[in-house]
Amino acid sequence: MRTQVAIIGGGPSGLLLSQLLHRQGISSIVIERQTREHVLGRIRAGVLEQGLVGLLEQAGCAGRLHAEGFTHDGTLISYGDQMFRVDFTELVGKPVVVYGQTEVTRDLYDASDASGGQVIHNVENVVIHDAKSDAPFLTFEVAGEMQRIDCDFVAGCDGFHGISRKTIPDAVRQDFEKIYPFGWLGVLSETPPVNHELIYANSPRGFALCSMRNANLSRYYIQCSLDDSPANWSDDAFWEELKRRIPADQAETLVTGPSIEKSIAPLRSFVTEPMQWGRLFLCGDAAHIVPPTGAKGLNTAASDVNYLFNALVDFYQDGSSDGLESYSAKALSRVWKAERFSWWFTTMMHQFPEQSEFDLKMQIADLEFLRSSAAAQKAMAENYVGLPY
Ligand code: APR
Ligand code: PHB
Repeated sequence: MRTQVAIIGGGPSGLLLSQLLHRQGISSIVIERQTREHVLGRIRAGVLEQGLVGLLEQAGCAGRLHAEGFTHDGTLISYGDQMFRVDFTELVGKPVVVYGQTEVTRDLYDASDASGGQVIHNVENVVIHDAKSDAPFLTFEVAGEMQRIDCDFVAGCDGFHGISRKTIPDAVRQDFEKIYPFGWLGVLSETPPVNHELIYANSPRGFALCSMRNANLSRYYIQCSLDDSPANWSDDAFWEELKRRIPADQAETLVTGPSIEKSIAPLRSFVTEPMQWGRLFLCGDAAHIVPPTGAKGLNTAASDVNYLFNALVDFYQDGSSDGLESYSAKALSRVWKAERFSWWFTTMMHQFPEQSEFDLKMQIADLEFLRSSAAAQKAMAENYVGLPY
């Protein structure tokens, strides 16, 4: 097989890049380790920055998003029984859109089908060859048969556990990582959201988040220890703990119900540098991970895709390699700002096992400053709705 851009990974990054390229007449082939059903079975955060909304419109697959997504002009932050609102639209003139990442991925697959996109599933033993040459190629197996894709460029969109990042030699690559000493226990329930906006809660018992997917599908999280297990939590126990971590007036109106999904996710901050090696370009979770507190995972993947897409268009349409040569530096500049915001928000909102009384005072002072300062709220809003590309 031969294509212009070979894309490893059929998650949001790979599918979005493929669809954007297609709209510019640039060919790509996506190879994915899992089945489509497996990919679409992942439950992930659903807060979209305007930049991502714009890319999905450019990719021709924002119809359902506009029909079913919820525009959120702000978010609620609570600590103890105090609760205040950060008004994004008032402070920075932009809202966010709440729409499940699973739905984004589904819309991208549907768009790929409609445009005759080539996505090869169930691939194994993917190897990137000659990434430092101008004729890289992939080899991989499907049903035991060896396959090869010759291409001009390789986009490594294969997530944190993929092979792309590890193709960059250790002597070239530098990884930066912070592991947080807790996880998030998440529950999905067919119940109306407790509030029409998200509630991020700092409580002495630990962090909690009240989110949603639609008017009758809610997503809730509580901070838990890393050695905890979903099996340790009955639905009733989860609801009782959540109620103890959010303001009493919200807890009183919380509609509970059976969980339809219950899982624990660890939290980490991770960045690899550089995000390019020859004609291999990393996008999304293949290059960086954020704690979900700031909902920056999908949105930062989207900004990588934006930079790489535009660089590839410049190469094929104008013969310019400038965008490709500056991709890593440009993408990393925005990645590190998203990492900072996610780390800051996580540090402010969670209980840390080893934190001192002074640390707790700093957390409350941070929250008090955010509650009382328009400048602090504007800074948070700028980051939450998404910094410019
Ligand atoms: N070969 C082919 N595909 C692979 C390989 C491989 N060796 N390794 C991993 N994959 C696939 C995974 O099965 C997954 O479907 O690559 C895809 C990577 O998708 P994501 O992990 O979703 O990463 P990304 O597309 O960058 O999206 C980032 O999605 O996962 C969330 O939290 C993440 O919100 C962030 C966003
Ligand atoms: C979610 O809805 O799953 C969600 C929303 C916001 C976050 C994290 C997760 O910051």
